[in-house]
Amino acid sequence: MPSNDKLFAYNLGQIVPLNEATLHISDLSVQRGYGVFDFVKVQQGYPLFLDDYLDRFYQSAELMHLAVPLSREEIKQVISKLTDLNKLPVAGMKMILTGGYSEDGFTPMNPNLLITQLPLTLPSADKVAKGIPIMTHDYVREVPEVKTINYSMGIRLLQEQKASGAEEVLYAKNAIVSEFPRCNFFIVTHDGTVVTPASNILKGITRKNVLSLAGRRYKTEVRDIRLEEVLQAREAFLTSTTKRILPIVQIDEAMIGTGKPGEVSMQLLQDLISLEVEQVAAAKGW
Ligand SMILES: Cc1ncc(COP(=O)(O)O)c(C=O)c1O
Repeated sequence: MPSNDKLFAYNLGQIVPLNEATLHISDLSVQRGYGVFDFVKVQQGYPLFLDDYLDRFYQSAELMHLAVPLSREEIKQVISKLTDLNKLPVAGMKMILTGGYSEDGFTPMNPNLLITQLPLTLPSADKVAKGIPIMTHDYVREVPEVKTINYSMGIRLLQEQKASGAEEVLYAKNAIVSEFPRCNFFIVTHDGTVVTPASNILKGITRKNVLSLAGRRYKTEVRDIRLEEVLQAREAFLTSTTKRILPIVQIDEAMIGTGKPGEVSMQLLQDLISLEVEQVAAAKGW
């Protein structure tokens, strides 16, 4: 449990000290792992690309037949209030919508909304400079377009992942790759095309931004990618809100490209950081 007693959270209609935010055990998130969430990065007090995250949050809720008890404007007000109260320079704002307090432990009731804000550590410069090894696992998420709170497979695989020395697990079903438990996947082919999987994925907000930035410099494609193609790729990288872009240098036993982070991955990371800086500057009227 986060133990920062100076932070505040939104808990079922009220802003309370984080340490006092609670849910009853009859909630369907506890009983059946039923709920959705989203996660926005806050930099210098500004939630980056907030509208995209809210779009996805409401869409996840709809696909899971859960009604969000607050309007978009109300959620924005809560986020702004928490940002002012918590004063965290770099943070993750998490909106969690659960199945609600269920009478029979199975049927959803009025969904419960919680919003927390916690400090966020981005990957170290050393990790970005070295790149990471990953492993693959034969799996596809149940309802990939929903950002569900259920990460059972990724969590269950942690032991195997650690034992193999991998930093992340790439899901691939029938040799077609999709995504990581918490990140999207890209390759750069030998002709310099930036490619990301089209289906069986959560549509990451970072993926969307990276695709658009890549389109300004390189050819891009959104399509199925087979594992054999990944092994032949010149570069590979992952994207997510908390990791931005992390180069991948090894998949299972195979080295990717030269075994070092590639030029395209590093260029896109610089472009993404610049886009974030521009967003904050525009929001603050600098
Ligand atoms: C399953 C899954 N895929 C991809 C992502 C990356 O999405 P984003 O760039 O919006 O963080 C996430 C984020 O947590 C995720 O849970």
